[in-house]
Amino acid sequence: MDTHDSQENFHKVLIVGNGGREYALGLHLKQDSRIEQIFFTPGNAGTALLGVNLTLPHNQDIVEFCQKEGVSWVIIGGESALVGGLSDDLRANGISTFGPSRAAAELEGSKAFMKDFVASCGIPTARYIQTSDIKAAKDFARSLPLPIVIKASGLCAGKGVIIAQSYEQAESTIDSMRKEFGQAGECVVVEEFLSGYELSVFGICDGEHFSLLPPCQDHKQLYNDDKGPNTGGMGAYTPSPLCDQALLDKIATKIFAPTLAGMKARGTPFNGVLFAGIMVVDSEPYLLEFNVRFGDPECEVLLPLLQTPLLDICQAIESKQIARLPIRFRDGYCVGVVLASHNYPFGSSTPYPITIAPFDSALGHICYAGVSQESATSPMLASGGRVALAIGVASTLAQARDNAYTIANAISFEGKLLRTDIANKALKA
Ligand code: AMP
Ligand code: GLY
Repeated sequence: MDTHDSQENFHKVLIVGNGGREYALGLHLKQDSRIEQIFFTPGNAGTALLGVNLTLPHNQDIVEFCQKEGVSWVIIGGESALVGGLSDDLRANGISTFGPSRAAAELEGSKAFMKDFVASCGIPTARYIQTSDIKAAKDFARSLPLPIVIKASGLCAGKGVIIAQSYEQAESTIDSMRKEFGQAGECVVVEEFLSGYELSVFGICDGEHFSLLPPCQDHKQLYNDDKGPNTGGMGAYTPSPLCDQALLDKIATKIFAPTLAGMKARGTPFNGVLFAGIMVVDSEPYLLEFNVRFGDPECEVLLPLLQTPLLDICQAIESKQIARLPIRFRDGYCVGVVLASHNYPFGSSTPYPITIAPFDSALGHICYAGVSQESATSPMLASGGRVALAIGVASTLAQARDNAYTIANAISFEGKLLRTDIANKALKA
C-alpha cells in the first residue's frame, strides 16, 4: 500500500459483515497507518485477530455505536445491510459510509428491477420475462431453447438460480421457487441461457464517474470443471487474461456508463462498488447480474494487489472525485481458493477444529470466513459454509495458483472441500 506522510488524520473504522471479504477488508485497512482501530459487526473468529468484534443487530445499534465511539467510516461488506438501508441511516446521522443507498441497492436486491432497468438502458443481457404469473413464466420457458435459467427475484446469496436441463424441470422449478424462497421467490425471472465464460468486473463509482478494477474470474459451481450446484463462489483470481483492454472498454461503455447515467437520471445515483457479473459470448459482454458490493471471493484477491489505500477510495467516492483518483494495483497475480465445509452450499457444518501447518508467508496468506471460537484461547473451529480462503500472490498466475494451493494444503479440518482447478481456464487459454 502507498505510504502516507501525514499521521494526523486518525480514523476508527467499522466493517459490517462476517465473511472472508470482511476479513480481507480488515487486513487491507490494518496496513493504513491513519487507521487507529477497526471494529467488525458481527465479524468472525478471524476478524477478532484484526480488531474488535461487536454484536450490533440493528441499524440503530450501529448508528449509536459509531456516534458514541467516534467511528468516522463504516465499510459495508454485504448486500443485506445495504438493501436494509444501513448506508442511508448512517449518512442521515453524518457518518461516512462505503456502500450505496437502499434505493441504489435495488440493482441487487431485486432481479426484476435490475432486469427492467437494464433493458430500459439498452444494456446487453439475456432475453427474459419477469412475472408472478406462473403460466406466463412457463409459457416463456417453453419458448426458449434448453437449458433454461430460472431465478428468484430477491436476495438468495447467489443460490437463487437454477439451470433447468428440461422443460419439465423448468416447470417444476417455477412451481417450487415460490415456496422455497418465500418473499424473494414471489416474482420469478425466466431467461435464456448464455453460453460463454464468466467474468466479475468491479467499478468504483461516485454517482457519476467510475473507475474499473482489474477483471476477476470467480468459480461459482461447487466442483471442478464447473460441475455441481451454484455456490457463492469457490475461488477467484485476478487479473484475468481472459479480459483484454478492448473487452474491458466494451464493459465500461456498454454496461457501466449507461448504468451510472440511468441510476443518476432516476434520482438514485450509485455510490460505492458496483459488481457486474458478465458472460462473454463471442467477445461480447452480456450482463448476468449486478451486485452492489465487493464479490466474495473476488475481494480477497483484489485487495492484496491494491496499492491505493481503500480509505482514499472511500473519500474520493464521498467527495465525487473518482475521476481524479488514479487507483493503482501492483503488478502480479492473486489467486484465492475457498476451503468449504462438507455441507456447503446446503448448510453449515458441525464445528471441527482447524489446524494450520507452517507455510512461508511470502507465498500469501489465509483469509478467515466461517470460523468461530468458544473462547479467545480455544482453537479456531470450521463452523460456516465457506470456512477460509488460501490466498496466493506471485508475479505469474501459475505461481500464484501454486502458492494458493500450497497454503490450502497447509490448512486442515474435517470435511474440507475445495476445487483443485481454480484459475485453470486462464492457464489453459
Ligand atoms: P446470478 O445470481 O444471476 O449471477 O446467477 C448465478 C450464476 O448462474 C451465474 O454466475 C452464472 O453461472 C449462472 N447464470 C445466471 N444467469 C445465466 C444465464 N442467463 N446464462 C447462463 N448462466 C447463467
Ligand atoms: N462471488 C460472487 C458473489 O460475491 O456474489
